[in-house]
Amino acid sequence: MENVVYVSAIDGERFGIKTARAEKVTKGNLSRVLEFCLNGKVSFLIGRCSAQDLDVAQAMEAQGFLIMDTQIYYLKDLKVGIPTMDSHPVNIRPVVSGEIEKIREIASDAFRGYYGHYHADPRLDKYKCDEAYVSWAVRSCLSKEVADEVLVAERDGDLVGFATMRLNNPSEGEGVLFAVSPRAQKTGVYRRLISSGINWCRTKGATKMIVSTQITNFAVQKVWVREGFEPLKALYTFHKWFD
Ligand SMILES: CC(C)(COP(=O)(O)OP(=O)(O)OC[C@H]1O[C@@H](n2cnc3c(N)ncnc32)[C@H](O)[C@@H]1OP(=O)(O)O)[C@@H](O)C(=O)NCCC(=O)NCCS
Repeated sequence: MENVVYVSAIDGERFGIKTARAEKVTKGNLSRVLEFCLNGKVSFLIGRCSAQDLDVAQAMEAQGFLIMDTQIYYLKDLKVGIPTMDSHPVNIRPVVSGEIEKIREIASDAFRGYYGHYHADPRLDKYKCDEAYVSWAVRSCLSKEVADEVLVAERDGDLVGFATMRLNNPSEGEGVLFAVSPRAQKTGVYRRLISSGINWCRTKGATKMIVSTQITNFAVQKVWVREGFEPLKALYTFHKWFD
């Protein structure tokens, strides 16, 4: 059961609410997930199911879950195509020590009022929702368990964006969390970060790369399609409150 549903210490500390997460809810485990929460006096549950399993989504709705977002995943086959090497005034390189405060600032500016599942829940404090992304970005710089690499975008000696990268297994790389400072947005920095992320996955020996986002984040999906990613799967994120 531990793998299906678990108490999330990070969410609990952030929101001051006993929180559980179930990343793969199915018809077969839904009642056990709910039992775990009731027995463990969980107040708040974040549950995900495949967007293809509408029967599971409807069963969750019947239990009082509310939809918060739809996450869409794309995959790029790294065995085909060649690395993109477009010229751009932004230089992409690994983060170095002493740059964490800058990462914190970029994440804080870019994710203020974002539209992820935390922000969609009116019961969660909006400032703490913003902080979820900021602390994720900072932890990515500090712990290899969170990210294997953090790439930064540097323009005229100033950091204007970052990308956190993970090797999920020897063949699969993932571009996890990306942000571009509002003052540098819409100038192609994100596209540059994605193409550098692709190259990072290739140098690690991965044969595929995955990325994901909210289905309404059209800016990033435009870039992914242009860089040769294809849709892979979608997940619904639900929240359930037990009081
Ligand atoms: C989404 C984000 C990373 C895009 O960064 P960016 O450097 O501005 O992106 P690019 O300049 O490479 O632009 C990519 C495309 O998206 C478009 N775009 C960028 N921001 C947009 C927005 N807010 N709304 C609509 N389209 C947008 C660009 O115009 C461009 O399309 P075009 O070539 O047809 O004009 C940036 O806005 C951001 O950090 N947002 C908040 C955090 C986030 O969404 N992170 C990604 C998910 S983890």
